[in-house]
Amino acid sequence: MDLKPAQPPLGMLAELTHRCPLHCPYCSNPIELIARDGELSTEEWRSVLTQARELGVLQVHMSGGEPLARPDLPILVEHATKLGCYVNLVTSGLGLTESRLDDLVERGIAHVQLSVQGATADRADRLAGARAHDRKVVAAALIKKAGLPLSVNVVLHRQNHDQLAGIIDLAEEMGADRLELANTQYYGWALRNRDALMPTRRQLDEAEPIVRAATERLRGRMEIIYVVADYYEKYPKPCMYGWGARQLTVAPDGNVLPCPASTAIETLEFDNVRDKPLAWIWYESGSFNAYRGEDWMPDTCGTCERRAIDFGGCRCQAFQLTGDASATDPVCSRSPHREVVDLILATQVKTDELVMRTAR
Ligand code: SF4
Ligand code: FES
Repeated sequence: MDLKPAQPPLGMLAELTHRCPLHCPYCSNPIELIARDGELSTEEWRSVLTQARELGVLQVHMSGGEPLARPDLPILVEHATKLGCYVNLVTSGLGLTESRLDDLVERGIAHVQLSVQGATADRADRLAGARAHDRKVVAAALIKKAGLPLSVNVVLHRQNHDQLAGIIDLAEEMGADRLELANTQYYGWALRNRDALMPTRRQLDEAEPIVRAATERLRGRMEIIYVVADYYEKYPKPCMYGWGARQLTVAPDGNVLPCPASTAIETLEFDNVRDKPLAWIWYESGSFNAYRGEDWMPDTCGTCERRAIDFGGCRCQAFQLTGDASATDPVCSRSPHREVVDLILATQVKTDELVMRTAR
């Protein structure tokens, strides 16, 4: 029996909008995107930020979609900074001019996370569905010129794994302080494109020495985080470090989500900041308490010594692959459903055709 009370959240992902100039086929936004007229207003976001800080949130990740699509971004950055939050901007870089960046710096932005799709413009632009790569290179230079810490984020998949070494070189040229190389996690658009994105075992084997050598070579200059492709792993990832444990997500329409992909779990109902206080949603709501702690675990996880390491894996993945969000993550070799993952890997029909994320 797990009787530990919930701890306050450390971070909040504020999905200010689903609007985005890019069309990445692995986007983790839901297939059903929220339209502009459904988005929270400036005042509503200010209230969410105030409530989040009162709740204990220290890190605010302003994200999307593309957060620069919101003209009120500077107001929200300033508000969160004045509350004492560390504000991170998660951006494609498109729309980040020198004057907009200077304004954001003045209002307290502390860090920028810039997405990159590939090592070369032709490949990256094809994957982004837009002419974006060269503008990202310019954005990176502006971020460094402004003296901000820069993280470069790359989603890896079958159609860019061959550019891994070039991607690392590009991040180094950009002056990134941190490079996150994350193999695709299959939610939202990425799940729809799984057959076109799933890397091969060979690609993953070839990636390891490249990442290891670069990590060694760049130690002290650029930190490299490598997120593995979990379908190929023996044990699942410690998704969200536990459900409702550290972070919450506020969607553009004000729905509060235990994880960014959790709208995929059709059996859950989510509460909205327009109806309920954020603190009530964090501590009391059905969605946040559904898989918090260990009480929900099936015996496979409940009696397993690894449950303190991976928290039973990912609830969204369990739902998507088994129809039951309280099942052991089927990636786990101890799961009675592991054969589902093995079957996907063995029988996938490889294609290079991508269904690009639609605009909003
Ligand atoms: Fe993790 Fe559950 Fe698998 Fe144990 S059985 S390794 S807790 S997912
Ligand atoms: Fe939702 Fe893992 S992505 S719990």
